[in-house]
Amino acid sequence: MRVLVTGGAGYIGSHVVRRLKAAGHEPVVLDDLKEGHLAAVGDAAPVTRGDIGDSAAIDAALGGRPVDGVIHMAASCLVGASMREPSRYYDNNVVRTLKLLEHLERRGVRRFVFSSSAAVYGEPDPRRRGGPMAPIEEDHPCAPTNVYGETKLAVERALSWYGRCTALRSIALRYFNAAGADPNGGIGEDHEPETHLIPLVMRTALGRQPQVEVLGRDYPTPDGTCLRDYIHVNDLADAHVLALNALAGPQPSGPEGAMRVYNLGAEKATSVLEVLEAAASITGRAIPAADGPRRPGDPAVLLASSARIRSELGWKPAVSGLSDILATAWAWHTSHPEGYPPAPKS
Ligand code: UFG
Repeated sequence: MRVLVTGGAGYIGSHVVRRLKAAGHEPVVLDDLKEGHLAAVGDAAPVTRGDIGDSAAIDAALGGRPVDGVIHMAASCLVGASMREPSRYYDNNVVRTLKLLEHLERRGVRRFVFSSSAAVYGEPDPRRRGGPMAPIEEDHPCAPTNVYGETKLAVERALSWYGRCTALRSIALRYFNAAGADPNGGIGEDHEPETHLIPLVMRTALGRQPQVEVLGRDYPTPDGTCLRDYIHVNDLADAHVLALNALAGPQPSGPEGAMRVYNLGAEKATSVLEVLEAAASITGRAIPAADGPRRPGDPAVLLASSARIRSELGWKPAVSGLSDILATAWAWHTSHPEGYPPAPKS
């Protein structure tokens, strides 16, 4: 399939582009390169620098040829920033996505894979089946606690209505904590600012920052730090290829079948302190840590049930053990201590 990948120059997007190519598809990338990196795509796909809400940019990316599906990953994705700049988040993540959908409808595109997030759930209900440490299933109520999660949920709901009213068939993938890097691809995580735990730990191991702050040690968890479900970015990327293939096959019947949601996590809860300990052992470096305050809006435990995507799409994580995640992240950070080269100015 020829596939438009929006945000294909981003951290997750660039891994998806490689996996699509490896599976025999033809990715084409549309990315504004504000946060993405041209070097992350390399020669894996043509890149058009432009906005998802701009019809001319979409046309330029598609180069006058038809497209069989879209993987829509372009978004602003920082929880903290979303609370400071709600209108920018609504505009980038919701308004421009609706414009993209309008354009795709005119072109008759029917297959749409959407990057969603565990942030749609908000603070998981401690009374859910299995109690506060239980994995979250897709039917858990969605109640975002930040603008970022709310924008992802808004698009999911729009896709659900489009599915009822038009020929669009979509799959939303709710990511838990993506981490690690492609061991063969020379690509990895490079955000500015960086807010995610694992890259910050790697920067600390490299001596590029003095210490990691442990954001809260008084959570109701075994060691007092937050538990997260870290999933290797290549396993996450593979799920996009499966989703696209599923949209090309026979579709489930009924209005619910027109838009499906799947959690994507490795189904293993790991604490902040466990990450620090494992990273010290894998890197062989000291990782100084200091206690900091809780980060507002951080749930104590975010653990996925990925049973639905396993059984319906046959997805299976292959490299999402913590040591694989940390070893591949370390290889990326040691080979690219400054990240990607700066993008050319437009
Ligand atoms: N943490 C620290 N110190 C840091 C950074 C993070 O202790 O310097 C902790 C956080 O408190 C959290 C864990 O490490 O407990 C993981 O934090 P990340 O920032 O790496 O990831 P989040 O769980 O906050 O974010 C993920 C996704 C977001 C999504 C969010 C949903 O990356 O896109 O889950 O809650 F919105």
